[in-house]
Amino acid sequence: MSIKRSFYSQALIAAALFSALPVALYAGLAQQTTTGDLTGNWAVRNVNDTEGTVRSTYFNLKHENGKITGTIRATQFFYTIKESTGGPEGFTLIASMMDGHNERRVQYEGKLAGDELRMATRRRPDAPLTEMVAKRAPAGEGALPARIEPPARHKVQYNGLAKTPPMGWNSWNKFAGRVDDATVRAIADAMASNGMKNAGYLYINIDDTWESGRNDKGEIQTNKKFPDMKALADYVHKKGLRLGIYSSPGPNTCAGYEGSYGHEEQDAMTFAKWGIDYLKYDWCGARTLYTDEEMPAIYQKMGDALLKTGRPIVYSLCQYGRLDVWKWGAEVGGNLWRTTGDIRDTWDSMTNIGFRQNELAQYAKPGHWNDPDMLEIGNGGMTGAEYRTHMSLWAMLAAPLLAGNDLRQMSSETLAILTNREVIAVDQDKLGKQGSQAWKSGDQEIWTRQLSGGDMAVAFFNRSKDEAKISVKWADIGAPAKRKARDLWLHQNVDASAPEYTATVPGHGVVMLRISGH
Ligand code: GLA
Repeated sequence: MSIKRSFYSQALIAAALFSALPVALYAGLAQQTTTGDLTGNWAVRNVNDTEGTVRSTYFNLKHENGKITGTIRATQFFYTIKESTGGPEGFTLIASMMDGHNERRVQYEGKLAGDELRMATRRRPDAPLTEMVAKRAPAGEGALPARIEPPARHKVQYNGLAKTPPMGWNSWNKFAGRVDDATVRAIADAMASNGMKNAGYLYINIDDTWESGRNDKGEIQTNKKFPDMKALADYVHKKGLRLGIYSSPGPNTCAGYEGSYGHEEQDAMTFAKWGIDYLKYDWCGARTLYTDEEMPAIYQKMGDALLKTGRPIVYSLCQYGRLDVWKWGAEVGGNLWRTTGDIRDTWDSMTNIGFRQNELAQYAKPGHWNDPDMLEIGNGGMTGAEYRTHMSLWAMLAAPLLAGNDLRQMSSETLAILTNREVIAVDQDKLGKQGSQAWKSGDQEIWTRQLSGGDMAVAFFNRSKDEAKISVKWADIGAPAKRKARDLWLHQNVDASAPEYTATVPGHGVVMLRISGH
């Protein structure tokens, strides 16, 4: 499957580049001389005062016979040191972990300075150096929890939700770690009043970074950005909207916050108690404890836990399309499943994801959808024509429509794209059949989607920078012999009575038609 291959190969290339980094990342470290023992547990404490959270990176080191061994735990990752050179006065560590079928590697440079460990690394091969200071921590702190064996597989009953692809908003694309209660309320206000709610948008989803630790009963806590999740849910519900939240089956989320590992039922109950209506469950930290082959059992666990709460909660799987999730996502109770790595607000990212969904059409059906990730419309990285392509393609794909921009302040063009009801009607068509590519030549593609009542959506996509004319013989794509056609972006009927039709499509743009046979 091409999607999976490409995602994996990107990770491999990144890993290969990383391991090829020059050894002296941080030359300054080697200049002072120090003696002392590297052996011990070292923690870098990342304090976030706005949240009242501390997220730590741990270096659990053993320096013996001229070699440094041990582990490194950072955000969602847990590495074992494979190679080392040097000693307290300046050393290099190369550590690795298996992430599914791929190896991830990191390299740190460090030196002991008094009772501090000065460390430096690069988050990505092309990223600037990140420097950090580690201090001695109690032995055992930051150790990976013991592995809990995955449950035996069984089929999780369908929860009856998401008969059409979920519509709403998610905080991550625009706000990442800056999302808070006030922002979520303001987004709900905007959605309820700007026409989006009336156009079908319903869920307000808080992504990663709302979490804190757990209380002494093991209950997950919100951090200072979300003082009262129940009150927030009440507020959103009063607007006629629903509230979504995010967690991970691992000990940590992608951003290194508390995950649901070992607390699945308890967290599901907490979410239900708060009034949560949607859960995005992101693999992330689970990769430290489980293989890809164990994913279905692990996702099933939360599927069961959500059902057990008795509250209708949409279940969104986020594991980047690994292990052909489209083949088992529904069986573990999933209403939708991400099919790819993260989208970015660029034409290349959006089209690379969107146009590669073709082979997955057969797996989408009412209640269970392929999720090519959230919308970037209005975030500023693409033109209006490109965002219309984004919206049209997602509608052809029967994809969830989760806006990812700042709904409090958007241009009328962005709002018009997000609330184009004729395009939304294609996305939300109750037949629930995902569209697919009917024709492709170079940068031009025609996609079709079968709709209820014998209708058909036809999208003429022009992936080149220059305007293009794209022609179709209606008979070739199975369009009804007697037909009416409507342009869904111009909002006007067009003459499609001749056997052949030519659409003039702007660069990076789309012409989207709805064809009715009556
Ligand atoms: C992963 C997911 C994103 C987002 C972040 C949050 O990268 O794929 O959609 O949820 O984690 O940390």
